Amino acid sequence: MKNDIKDISLAETGAQRIAWAAQDMPVLRTVREQFIKDQPLKGHRLAACLHVTAETANLMIALKAGGAEVALCASNPLYTQDDVAASLVKDHGISVFAIKGEDHDTFFKHLEAVIATKPDLTMDDGADLVSTIHAKHPDLLANLNGGTEETTTGVIRLRAMAKDGALKMPVVAVNDAKTKNMFDNRYGTGQSTLDGIIRATDVLLAGKTFVVAGYGWCGKGLAMRARGMGANVIVTEIDAVKALEAAMDGFRVMQMTDAAAIGDIFCTVTGDTNVITVEHFKKMRDGAMVANSGHFDVEVDIKGLASSASSVRKGVRNFVDEYTLDGKRIYVLAEGRLVNLAAADGHPASVMDMSFSTQGLACVWMAQNDLAPEVYDVPGETEDTVAMLKLASMNITIDTLTPAQQKYLSSWQEGT
Ligand code: ADE
Repeated sequence: MKNDIKDISLAETGAQRIAWAAQDMPVLRTVREQFIKDQPLKGHRLAACLHVTAETANLMIALKAGGAEVALCASNPLYTQDDVAASLVKDHGISVFAIKGEDHDTFFKHLEAVIATKPDLTMDDGADLVSTIHAKHPDLLANLNGGTEETTTGVIRLRAMAKDGALKMPVVAVNDAKTKNMFDNRYGTGQSTLDGIIRATDVLLAGKTFVVAGYGWCGKGLAMRARGMGANVIVTEIDAVKALEAAMDGFRVMQMTDAAAIGDIFCTVTGDTNVITVEHFKKMRDGAMVANSGHFDVEVDIKGLASSASSVRKGVRNFVDEYTLDGKRIYVLAEGRLVNLAAADGHPASVMDMSFSTQGLACVWMAQNDLAPEVYDVPGETEDTVAMLKLASMNITIDTLTPAQQKYLSSWQEGT
């Protein structure tokens, strides 16, 4: 099997979408042009498990232009853009195994299909590819130069594997790069999550009490943007330093049990499980809306809600289910899955530009270096390159250190 997609005849719309995203990905365009000249991935087979979007398509096209043989599957069954998948297959000769809404078995069959290409490089969003290779195809590990990981949840899993001595291949934590999380996690999640909530519900944010669970980069972006739309924002957090930061950023900080009683809209962005539970649902007011923008659909206990609810009305609007609990209605968006990708288009191309350029360059770094099985940071030069290219695309020039400043910064003798 070389591909498994919904419908090849969707390719034309997919091509338009890919071209639209490309306009806002100038850094990736420069990386691709360099890849065409240098062919740094020639002879490499890359398996990617990412959200199949127009932005991802541009990354796949760049990697192929750099000489790699590429196979792509979805990192979540719900978020594939079928027209984009069709264009990748038809117009770019890239193997894609992804169909929006695919069931659990098909999702894993597709994961196996990209693994069957016997990759020497992997690219993950959530670490399903790397963990499946470790669990079911350990024979491939010897041939793996390494992998890259896109998201916080994936990096948490990989670090847990490394801590247990279970990680048998090198992986770059692209998520932890400044050129990724300061922009994609913060501004990408901030904007696209609100976009998903608004598209799903048409809710007015001004004057609403908006509860953000988690104050990592994603939570910060979401809290900032919700405040910008006029919401009264409450932050819940388990990390003392982050909670303090949220308080000093001007947000009300409290426990979820207290926030539950006063929030109008709730959104989890923690990367952890059972953040909103039945105990919290029971305290919510009639008409409360609950969404998630963390990678896995484990942050909101929807099974618990379903079993406690007296009635459930699915699809009262697209991506909105109504649960009645103790006589009060609670609206769950996108079944607790990533609301920004389910109900909107994910992060805008302009931030994915930096994340995916970092991905592409990190992938080349893995291919060119013989590394021990550990979790690595993105090399500092790669971050600088991506940031400088993005600034140039925005027509921004910055100062450089004079020799005297350089000397001052590297000396310790000068003081008071
Ligand atoms: N994750 C969040 N937004 C995304 C996008 N637009 N493409 C790929 N992965 C994403």
